[in-house]
Amino acid sequence: MGPDRRPAPGHRETVLVVGASRGIGLEIAAQYLAAGWRVHATTRTPQNPGALGELGDGLVIHPLDVRSRADVAELHATLGGTALDVLIHNAGVYHGVSREEMHDVNAVAPIRVADALLDRVAASRRGRLVLMTSQAGARRGTSGSLGAYGDSKAALNDAFRRRAPDWARRGVIAIVMHPGWVRTDMGGATAPLGVAESVAGIRGVVDGLTTDHHGRFWTWEGQEHAW
Ligand SMILES: NC(=O)c1ccc[n+]([C@@H]2O[C@H](COP(=O)([O-])OP(=O)(O)OC[C@H]3O[C@@H](n4cnc5c(N)ncnc54)[C@H](OP(=O)(O)O)[C@@H]3O)[C@@H](O)[C@H]2O)c1
Repeated sequence: MGPDRRPAPGHRETVLVVGASRGIGLEIAAQYLAAGWRVHATTRTPQNPGALGELGDGLVIHPLDVRSRADVAELHATLGGTALDVLIHNAGVYHGVSREEMHDVNAVAPIRVADALLDRVAASRRGRLVLMTSQAGARRGTSGSLGAYGDSKAALNDAFRRRAPDWARRGVIAIVMHPGWVRTDMGGATAPLGVAESVAGIRGVVDGLTTDHHGRFWTWEGQEHAW
C-alpha cells in the first residue's frame, strides 16, 4: 500500500456492518462505535432493533434483508454520497432454513450486496470489503463442512474468487474472513471464543489490510486460510 492509500490525517472512518442485530455483527458495530468511527448498521427488524438500538449516538440503523434487491437498492440510495472505508457483510444463517435460503443468504447475497454498494467503498481512499465466510467452506464434502452450510460458504468463496479481480480494479481491497468458532446463537454456548475477542481480532486484520491481502481467505487471528 502506498502512502496515497493511508487515511488522511484527522479523517474519521466510516464502516457499514450488514447483519448487525446480534452475535458477531452486533459486536462489530459496538467496537467500531467505541473506537470513534461513524457506524452504519443493518437489521431486518429496524422497528424493534433490540441491543443494536441501545448502542448509542453515532450509529445509523438501516433496514435490510440481504435477499431483497429492493432493500439493497434503497440502502444504496439512502447512503447517497457516503464513502465507506470498510464494508463488512456479516449476515449468515446456519440452521432453521431451507437449503435454498441458506444458499441465497450465505453465497448469493454477499456478492450481490457488495456489487451493489461497491461504488461507496471505491469512494474511500482506502476502501476495504470483508465477506464473512467460515472454515466450514474449506471442507466441502467432509463432515467438517457441516452439510448445506459448508456448501453455501464454499460457494461464496468460489464466487468471491471470481469477483475479486474486478473489485481490485476498482481500487477496493477485498477478503473473505473466518471469525473463529464463536459463542453466538449460531456458534452455540460451547464455542471457545467470545464475540469481543473474535471482533477485536477481525478489526486488527481490517486495520492492517494492504493490497497484498486482497483476494485471499483470512482468519480473525490474521492467518491465511487454505481454500
Ligand atoms: N459463530 C460462529 O462460530 C461462526 C463461525 C464461522 C462463521 N460464522 C459466520 O459469521 C457470521 C455471523 O455469525 P454469528 O455467529 O454472529 O450468527 P448469528 O448470531 O446467528 O447472527 C446472524 C446474523 O445474520 C443476520 N441475518 C440472517 N439472515 C439474514 C438476512 N436474510 N438478511 C439480513 N440479515 C440476516 C441475523 O439477523 P436476524 O437477527 O434478523 O436473524 C443476525 O444479525 C455469519 O456469516 C456466520 O456464518 C460464524
